[in-house]
Amino acid sequence: MKQALTTRLVSFVGQKGGVGKSSLARLLSVGAARAGSKVLLADFDLDQLTCVEWNAARLRHNLDPEIEVRPFKSLKKLRKTEETFDLIVADTRGLADDLTKDVAEESSVVFLPTGTSGDDLRPTLALARRLAKQGADGKLSFILSKTGRSERQIAAATKMIEDQGYSILATHWALRDGLQSEFDMGGVGLESRNHYLRDIADNMGKALIERAFNG
Ligand SMILES: Nc1ncnc2c1ncn2[C@@H]1O[C@H](COP(=O)(O)OP(=O)(O)OP(=O)(O)O)[C@@H](O)[C@H]1O
Ligand SMILES: [Mg+2]
Repeated sequence: MKQALTTRLVSFVGQKGGVGKSSLARLLSVGAARAGSKVLLADFDLDQLTCVEWNAARLRHNLDPEIEVRPFKSLKKLRKTEETFDLIVADTRGLADDLTKDVAEESSVVFLPTGTSGDDLRPTLALARRLAKQGADGKLSFILSKTGRSERQIAAATKMIEDQGYSILATHWALRDGLQSEFDMGGVGLESRNHYLRDIADNMGKALIERAFNG
């Protein structure tokens, strides 16, 4: 029999590359750590190691709080982790594979970031249907990610997701060039000196924490 994880696991999955999975996984990890939780950020994307590399930049720039970020090849190794954590955040690779399915199965909440275009929504909705069939139905949460300034597009994408019976975070993750500079320095947006960027990260971080712990 499979040994179950004793810590709450939430994951970021997707069928499309570049939709914000890693950035949002990092934001949730830092937000929860700032709020006092002991967090492990598990990087399952061994080809890119986006979160591991980001953490090196975070350490170089002396940003607080320090986040525990580790690469994982499988859930088996994650289950063997001996320290106790309040939350494990899993970042998975771009194209959903069997490992994505396993991670989703074990998660309490599965976040599906997607852009507002049909190009992004169609494959993400198809992945949600596959995961729902495997029993993940109630724990799926869409996030509109890297959104532009068109409220009409945001409303249309929200409607499309809700019409198919899925839940979606009320807060969306706005695309801002300035956030990329923050990421390059090991930040998540919360550390920015620009209060507009900080507010974007703060609102999204709070929405993620709320869903991660209560969803
Ligand atoms: N809100 C944002 N504003 C601007 N750029 C962003 C934002 N969120 C993410 N990005 C940038 O978009 C790119 C993709 O983001 P990210 O790496 O988080 O996506 P991903 O879904 O993890 O990608 P992959 O599928 O390759 O793992 C990165 O260059 C990142 O810096
Ligand atoms: Mg990634």
